[in-house]
Amino acid sequence: MSWKKHLLITGGAGFIGSHLVRLLVQKYPEYAIWNLDALTYAGNLENLKDVEAAPNFHFIKGDITDAGFLHDLFSRQHFDGIIHLAAESHVDRSISGPLAFVQTNVIGTVHLLEEARRQWADALEGKLFYHVSTDEVYGSLGETGFFTEQTAYDPRSPYSASKASSDHFVRAYYHTYGLPVIISNCSNNYGPYQFPEKLLPLMINNIRHRKPLPVYGDGKYTRDWLWVIDHVEAIDTIFHQGRKGETYNIGGNNEWKNIDLVHLLCQTMDGLLGRPPGDSASLITYVRDRPGHDRRYAIDASKLQNELGWSPKVMMAEGLAETANWYLSNQGWMDHVTSGDYQQYYERQYRH
Ligand code: NAD
Ligand code: TYD
Repeated sequence: MSWKKHLLITGGAGFIGSHLVRLLVQKYPEYAIWNLDALTYAGNLENLKDVEAAPNFHFIKGDITDAGFLHDLFSRQHFDGIIHLAAESHVDRSISGPLAFVQTNVIGTVHLLEEARRQWADALEGKLFYHVSTDEVYGSLGETGFFTEQTAYDPRSPYSASKASSDHFVRAYYHTYGLPVIISNCSNNYGPYQFPEKLLPLMINNIRHRKPLPVYGDGKYTRDWLWVIDHVEAIDTIFHQGRKGETYNIGGNNEWKNIDLVHLLCQTMDGLLGRPPGDSASLITYVRDRPGHDRRYAIDASKLQNELGWSPKVMMAEGLAETANWYLSNQGWMDHVTSGDYQQYYERQYRH
């Protein structure tokens, strides 16, 4: 079969990447989708079970920090587009071990940019390096205001500093070498297949096991939550219709203080588990705050809406119920991903 395009997706076995791979494999049977992933603790091929047999899906196990491996891959295989999601993605892990974030998020991204530049040196037409980034590069908001594409970068955690650095390199390759790039900066995602170090799946798993629900600080930290499938649909839209060299903010227009979101989740879970109202909320426990904890994130996604017509489709009550239901119906997945190093991570992170 001759494929219309060869697309390389990095980090496609992770949370957002697996939803993106599924969408692309199913929506574009004429594209060959190459999923490159190192399968770290956060990557799991179980996330892609339903597409692994598709004729247009290929998996490559490999590490983007390994320059030799990437060089061999790009020498063997031509790509028309790259959508780069592979990253270390958890703020708390970046606080206890920043160097892994520099390695993967900064150095890994630059290795990938180098290979794209080399492969596309003579023919840039129709090529695109799409970098998936986060709203956390913009820093922390007070009670009011929104992040726009013009907001100055002000990263405050090792994670956001590493993502900001990778964004700068991607833009540098656009300006210096003319590499066709697009960056999107998205708010907090939620949905199935998210690793239970992040707020919602961690709380869902703890509610199921009747363990304390650790809320950091005063619980009034605010995030703008987006249903993960809305995010990958935005990536698809931007990849196909976005303007080269541009940045697009993606957000849910859906701000929640952590404590209010945890209460909504508790109510949802009580209903699903047949527990009396208030049962799960009684597990809420305020714990030591995260150092340098960003107070509020909120995205202005009007550029994406006005230019490309994207807006989020799934409302919080619906998305949260679907998420909780998914985790309860897929307890084997949760038990599997929490069976190894997770216990040690949990012990270290929450012992205080
Ligand atoms: P994740 O941690 O669930 O998945 C990351 C994936 O990258 C895993 O499959 C992992 O195995 C792979 N990976 C890690 N290091 C690698 C390496 N050196 N080489 C190859 N593969 C490697 O992350 P996620 O939440 O799906 O986030 C994906 C991307 O989206 C990241 O770039 C993140 O910064 C960005 N993002 C995430 C959110 C969010 O709410 N989760 C929001 C905005 C942006
Ligand atoms: P998280 O899911 O780690 O995403 P991010 O830090 O990238 O926004 O955390 C979301 C919010 O929830 C953040 O304000 C930190 C808070 N939080 C808790 O209160 N308790 C927890 O156990 C976790 C993991 C997060």
